[in-house]
Parts: sequence; structure tokens; C-alpha cells
Amino acid sequence: MSAETPPTRRDFLRSTGQIAAAGALTASSIPYVHAGVDETVQAALIGCGGRGTGAAADCLATQSKHGPIKLVAMADVFENKLKNSHKVLNDSYVGQMDVPPERRFIGFDAYEKAMGCLKSGDIAILTTPLAFRWVMFQKAIEKGLNVFMEKPLTADGPTSRKMFELAEEATKKNLKVGVGLMIRHCKGRRELKDRIANGEIGDILAMRAYRMHGPVGSAFSGPKPANITEVMFQINRFHSFLWASGGCFSDFYIHQIDECSWMKGAWPVKAQANGARQYRGEDIDQNFDTYTVEYTYPDGAKLFFFGRTMNGAYTEMSSWAHGTKGTAVISTSGHTPGKVRIWNNQAATGDPAWAFPQPEPNPYRLEWEELVDAIRQNKPYNEVKRGVEASLVTSMGRMAAHTGQVITYDQILNSKHEFSPNTDKLTMDGPAPVMPDAKGHYPIPQPGIVKDREY
Ligand SMILES: NC(=O)c1ccc[n+]([C@@H]2O[C@H](COP(=O)([O-])OP(=O)(O)OC[C@H]3O[C@@H](n4cnc5c(N)ncnc54)[C@H](O)[C@@H]3O)[C@@H](O)[C@H]2O)c1
Repeated sequence: MSAETPPTRRDFLRSTGQIAAAGALTASSIPYVHAGVDETVQAALIGCGGRGTGAAADCLATQSKHGPIKLVAMADVFENKLKNSHKVLNDSYVGQMDVPPERRFIGFDAYEKAMGCLKSGDIAILTTPLAFRWVMFQKAIEKGLNVFMEKPLTADGPTSRKMFELAEEATKKNLKVGVGLMIRHCKGRRELKDRIANGEIGDILAMRAYRMHGPVGSAFSGPKPANITEVMFQINRFHSFLWASGGCFSDFYIHQIDECSWMKGAWPVKAQANGARQYRGEDIDQNFDTYTVEYTYPDGAKLFFFGRTMNGAYTEMSSWAHGTKGTAVISTSGHTPGKVRIWNNQAATGDPAWAFPQPEPNPYRLEWEELVDAIRQNKPYNEVKRGVEASLVTSMGRMAAHTGQVITYDQILNSKHEFSPNTDKLTMDGPAPVMPDAKGHYPIPQPGIVKDREY
């Protein structure tokens, strides 16, 4: 072990004579030790839904390029979710799934038990709704675990401040942390970013982004059925509740607000917005079904964002940048493939001046390869600060729509309304962070009436 080669986990345990007694070490006594190239990295999946199953698959798929990796524990609050996810992964990743029944955990403390199956330097995959991010990230840091966690990271100012602090703690402990804004790892978008930085479309004056389609995810909810507790209903329908997800606005729109801000090379400093509930019938969720936001950047440039979840209306999902010399498409019709192109005119007509060659590598795979490479090579890697910034500016636009006020970055950052201060103390049948009235209705935003908080 040379001074230039950081110790691997095995070196550390051997030098302290603790290979046999490794299990007896307490988390706080284990310094962060990165896995050597040939050692098996272990992962635990916490939140075994659609994205969690996908993220675990992307994690396991790194084995062919980055060395042995396996899933050793799974955690969820719903048994059927864990069961389905386990089956899907077991069918596809034979030999890399080592999750016997005793390492499948259910409940609000399941995440801690799953993390307890890992050693310092292993990976916790956090793919629950965002409300649990800070709780689980804090525990992972305490245990010296590397982390992959999904976007968004926060839905309000107080939690963002907490996550900024945790980001610094993770860096101090040399933990590697990936955040699921996978577009940042897309090769096409990276080349586009370089070309924009080199002046190929001139100075960006305006950007526009659209996410307009019918109702998706759990953003629309009818009344709570009798056979589920209040808190479990809200977690299951997390896009419906602002505390759990930041609503459809945070959960769906963050990618495009982030990719536009990345291309601009700045975060917006303020937002004003419109939004309304139009065709809601008996739906009890807290979302609007249209949102229109004007974001302003420090140099006065604008991003106009259009969000709609409405059947029968025009659909589009794309992001654009307009510069003094031309136009770029950042997303063509979804997150991937981006099909990024540049035109030397504003109308984006005629042959593009440049287009990234197709097919594009999958950014969901790339984000994992870069994280695992950083873990193997012990390279600095922490995406949390910009993940929180992206979450905050997204919340800034949502708060502008929900209050009917101009909201600045400083206002959202310093706002006092924490949607779910006690996420770490939730119980299956206890009260939920937002409770219904006698008619089963939850508070919905009232722009111009409730102005200093969203509900
Ligand atoms: N990067 C992307 O493109 C992308 C795509 C989809 C989802 N996501 C993100 O992934 C996250 C999950 O979304 P999803 O679509 O997979 O939702 P999902 O409902 O399919 O999965 C979430 C899972 O977490 C579980 N869960 C909830 N609270 C838990 C807790 N306290 N402990 C353990 N498990 C818990 C749920 O039971 C569920 O199985 C969201 O933050 C979402 O924004 C990102």
C-alpha cells in the first residue's frame, strides 16, 4: 500500500487486524475506505418502485466495465413493491442479486436495516419520494456510505438549507454522491453545453421549455380509500402531495429547468408564474393542472416554462435555447434521447448546423458508470449542491404559481414553511404531514389569497 494509493477496505481491515471482527465495528468508528478495483461493491435499494428498480439495474450493469457489484438488501414501506422489484431484478441479474428474505425489510425503519447490511464504501440507493431524502442521506453519511439518490432532493427552503449542510458533510467524509439528474451525464447535452460555451449560438437571451401531456404518475388522486391509512395513502400517491414530492411541478419539471439553467451557466434569480385548477372533478390532490413560469437569470435572460397535465390539449415535451446567433434544441421530445441540434437561425428551420450523432448512449447508465468509477478510483464526486440548487429553483417557480407573487431565490431559500418537518418520525398509522378536512379535502394553493406560503 503506497502513499499514492489510497487504502482499500480490505487493506484497512487487514492493517487493523479486524477482518474477522469487521461486523463488530460501529458505524461511527469506521473511516471511509474505498473499494479496490477487484473488490465487490455492495448496494442496498431503498424505495423499490419504478425508478428504484431501474436505478438498481443501472447499478448492477456497471459490473461489465467497473468490477464486481451486487445488491445485498432491499427496503420499502409496501411489501408488494419490494416483491415485484426483487422479482424483476432477480430475473435479469442472476449472480448479482444476493437479497435473501432476511435482508428484505418493510417499514419506516427498513432503510436503516438495509443500510445496516452495508459496509463503509458501499452504496445506498435512495429512490423513495423526496420527503425522505434528508432523513436517509443523513443516516448514510453517518454510516460512511456512498449514495445515489433521485431528484428532486427538496421541496422547500428549510429542507434545502439542511441538505446543503449535509452535502458538505458528505464531502468532508469523502463520500461519493450521485443525484439522478441524469441529463447532466448525457454525452449529447455535454457537447451542446461546450458548443454553447464556445459561442456557437451567441449569447443566450431566452429559453423555452414545455412539458404538456395528459395526467401521469400519482399527480391526480381521488378520495382516500378506507382500506389504507392516511400517511400510507399520501406516500403511495406522492405526486399528489406537496410535502411528499413537491407536486407534479417539482417531480416532473425539474429536469427541464435544470438542463436549461445548465446551458445558460447560471441559476435563475426570480420567478413569476400563473397556474390554475380547471378540470379537477372529485380529485383531492394539491396540484394545479396548468403552470406557466417566467424565470429571470442574473443577466436578465429569461426561461419560459409551460407545464400542463390535461387530456385533449396539445402535447409537447421539449427545451430550447435562443441565442444572438442561433438556436439550440436541448431536449426534443422527452429526456432521452435528447437529439440535440444547433441551427444558425431562430426558427430552427433547414438543416441544422450541428447535430449529435444517433443513437445516443443512455444517460441513466452513464450516471451510474461515472459514480461507480469515482468510487473505484477514489475521485471526488458529490452532485448534491447542484441537485439542491436545481430543486430550489424549481420550487421557486412552483411557489410563484401557487402564491401569485414574484418569488426570488433568496426568498425560497430562506422561507420558513417546511412542508414535513417530522418525516423522520412518521408512523404507518399516525398523522400525515397534511391532513384532510371533514370532507376529505386537502389544502390547495390559493394565488393572491395565501401569499406567503403555498397552502
Ligand atoms: N431521474 C428520472 O428520470 C426519474 C424517473 C422516475 C422517477 N424519478 C424519481 O424517483 C423517485 C421515486 O419515483 P418512482 O417513480 O420510482 O415512484 P414509485 O412510487 O414507483 O417508487 C417509490 C417507492 O418508494 C417506496 N417508499 C416510499 N416511502 C418509503 C420509505 N419511507 N422507505 C422505503 N421505501 C419507501 C414506495 O413504496 C415505492 O415503492 C422520485 O423522487 C422521482 O422523482 C426519477
